[in-house]
Amino acid sequence: MLEIKHLKLTLNGKPLINELNLEVKEGKIHGLLGVNGAGKTSLANLIMGTSYPDEGSIILEGRDITRFTISQRAKMGITLAWQEPARFEGLSIREYLGLNRNLSLSEAEKYLWTVGLPPGEYLNRAVDGSLSGGERKRVELASVLAMKPKVAILDEPDSGIDVVSLPHIMNGIVEMGKRGSAVLLITHNEGAVSVSEEVSIICAGKIINSGPPQEMCHWFKNNCQTCPHIGEPDYKGV
Ligand SMILES: Nc1ncnc2c1ncn2[C@@H]1O[C@H](COP(=O)(O)OP(=O)(O)O)[C@@H](O)[C@H]1O
Ligand SMILES: [Mg+2]
Repeated sequence: MLEIKHLKLTLNGKPLINELNLEVKEGKIHGLLGVNGAGKTSLANLIMGTSYPDEGSIILEGRDITRFTISQRAKMGITLAWQEPARFEGLSIREYLGLNRNLSLSEAEKYLWTVGLPPGEYLNRAVDGSLSGGERKRVELASVLAMKPKVAILDEPDSGIDVVSLPHIMNGIVEMGKRGSAVLLITHNEGAVSVSEEVSIICAGKIINSGPPQEMCHWFKNNCQTCPHIGEPDYKGV
């Protein structure tokens, strides 16, 4: 579905994304695990088209979209749930979910249930500061489900949320994969990638390991979380 080849982005002489290769398949969840500052959000922006790489290519269903604009990519079915979702004062959840296309009431209700928000309580609530961070993230995930994207990039959907929201978020992500989306699940928390089919570990914009979730969680814990060489992906000690 989505292929990233030899992607490179340098800012002020420093590589943010470095020779990065990645493939996210239809109906599969690909975990991208990396410590803060590893380049995860930079990669999300390159895939969505909010910034452009210096080298390399981004391929969607065999088509080179590297130079496409964000709106062209959105029309082709790529969507990004930002690390810090915006609030929309004055907009109800019902309106927010249907914003990008016509959505039936029963569908809107279904997506809210998927992320554990009872529609009777939430449909008419405002997407503003009255929602907790976890509720806001769940509304965002419901809206991504409603878009039925080909590719869903989820930038830290699990960060800054309460323990009650976490299983609902994970449920929404699993549902996205089941419904055929190619999901890139970005996180710095190794526990959250357990729902992935495959996990890649990123350091200083470079993929330094990839494999099955359990193995990668273990590896990340032992090699990245306490690493004295953060930002040195070629360090030979690991
Ligand atoms: N616009 C920018 N200008 C300069 N440096 C940036 C910019 N955006 C990100 N960076 C730097 O790039 C690195 C990767 O950042 P980011 O992609 O946000 O990491 P992550 O999402 O993995 O925490 C960090 O060192 C960050 O400070
Ligand atoms: Mg980030």
